Amino acid sequence: MSQHYQHDILVIGSGAAGLTLALSLPEHLSIAVLSKGNLANGSTYWAQGGVAAVLDDLDTVESHVADTLNAGGGLCREDSVRFTVEHSREAIQWLIDQGVPFTRDDETAREDGGFEFHLTREGGHSHRRIIHAADATGAAIFNTLFERAKQRANIELLEQRVAVDLITEQKLGLKGQRCLGAYVLNRASGQVDTYHARFVILATGGAAKVYLYTSNPDGACGDGIAMAWRAGCRVGNLEFNQFHPTCLYHPQAKSFLITEALRGEGALLKLPNGQRFMQRFDSRAELAPRDIVARAIDHEMKRLGVDCVYLDISHKPAEFIKSHFPTVYERCLDFGIDITQAPIPVVPAAHYTCGGVVVDQNGHTDVPGLYAIGETSFTGLHGANRMASNSLLECFVYAQAAAADILQQLDQVAMPANLPGWDASQVTDSDEDVIIAHNWDELRRFMWDYVGIVRTNKRLQRAEHRVRLLLNEIDEFYSNYKVSRDLIELRNLAQVAELMIRSAMLRHESRGLHYTLDYPQMLPEAKDTILQPPTYDD
Ligand code: FAD
Ligand code: SIN
Repeated sequence: MSQHYQHDILVIGSGAAGLTLALSLPEHLSIAVLSKGNLANGSTYWAQGGVAAVLDDLDTVESHVADTLNAGGGLCREDSVRFTVEHSREAIQWLIDQGVPFTRDDETAREDGGFEFHLTREGGHSHRRIIHAADATGAAIFNTLFERAKQRANIELLEQRVAVDLITEQKLGLKGQRCLGAYVLNRASGQVDTYHARFVILATGGAAKVYLYTSNPDGACGDGIAMAWRAGCRVGNLEFNQFHPTCLYHPQAKSFLITEALRGEGALLKLPNGQRFMQRFDSRAELAPRDIVARAIDHEMKRLGVDCVYLDISHKPAEFIKSHFPTVYERCLDFGIDITQAPIPVVPAAHYTCGGVVVDQNGHTDVPGLYAIGETSFTGLHGANRMASNSLLECFVYAQAAAADILQQLDQVAMPANLPGWDASQVTDSDEDVIIAHNWDELRRFMWDYVGIVRTNKRLQRAEHRVRLLLNEIDEFYSNYKVSRDLIELRNLAQVAELMIRSAMLRHESRGLHYTLDYPQMLPEAKDTILQPPTYDD
């Protein structure tokens, strides 16, 4: 039997953004936090490098702002950048107060304004400003926030709940546009339940799974972006897909990232013959922003016809490597690579979705009552290329801003009543799941081939043609068969892929992460690509 539930706040997503928001609200509010897999299955858990913030008194807000704007290729919204960076110290203090075990640096902490935690460096940053927990920062943050949330009686943490779609007044044919809740598949019962909520928060992470090779965990399917689009929200800058330059290249290694902090601590990129190459592409060499490094690697791999390049930190003392990068060291050793002795084979892979659901500084989307925070949102912070370690920071700052905003509106919003349950009367069990598996593969492969690091008009047109065929097929399947996690994800992934392709086709220039051979120059004026959803009357 499908169920109805009521919560003051429905948070879809249990990563850094979702947990921070839940923990930032008072204990008299009932809050449900959903995850479509286990609670740790978002990208947050896998974050390695750390969180960028102005922490050392020798660093400045101006410098962090300038670096972010510079990495963003002229497209960052300066007010969002400033807002995020100005709140960075406060966000880190909140994490420290929650108990996150950041790596300490008692030895080098300076009396003249030095900071007691170790700060590392990553591409694009002109200062050491990345606070981290060795090379497993995401796990340290997730575990701490998760433990805190478990202790709060008002927070229900619900696993294996897949949000299918948002419920809005407009969709129900009512007057108004407010978001009233969501339909959610309970994977244990197989039923789609109805969640009523006064406020709904999308904290569903990114969409890098749209590509064949990615650093992201399996759930990064852009569900929040697709749900928000279907609910009537604008989306922005979805052509800017970030490829991380260094993922481990090994037949048995699935999605394992080699943190940029290795380069921050002196690792060098080399060709198979041992020669360095990054200085030919940018004066900052290995510490250039990610778009430049990933493109340079792609260029060299294609030029030489090689499967990977190499990242070498073996010139550093073995003890330094093992203590700063225990996760990378152990994981590589599992594959027979001792990084204290040998270079690491690496390739670029899809890593981060810079665009997303358009929001303001409080995380408001275009639909009243619906917020988007974290990687699923488009705040304007990242512009055409996200600077390393600004993403987790954005999760914390915007989650806290959204929580404060919700508090101010609480008194004016009642619990929605009488929402219709999910209608499954017209669908049957699927007898052809092979279609889902096939479409998943096809989608991810053509996105990789045609909408990757280097694009052309022709490639984008091919991708557009294929995604339209897939969308039709998936729509038909969705109308006839019961929903499953795979089907929900495929439907969302195909929708987001279509939005990405459309956005890429609208940008007639090369800027940041969007590089096309047909328009290699950057236009003088930087403009966002904002897509408007169809209205329900269309
Ligand atoms: P996530 O942590 O991805 O969580 C998404 C949540 O939404 C999950 O709980 C998922 O189950 C849930 N969800 C999704 N769809 C549904 C649905 N339909 N129904 C129910 N639940 C749903 N950034 C940095 O700043 N520093 C780093 O060092 C860093 N390292 C990284 C390393 C790796 C390997 C990766 C993949 C990313 C890294 N990033 C880093 C990026 C950063 O980790 C992410 O951008 C950030 O964690 C996103 O957090 P989030 O809360 O928005 O989403
Ligand atoms: C990394 O550790 O290289 C990832 C950092 C990030 O994506 O911000």
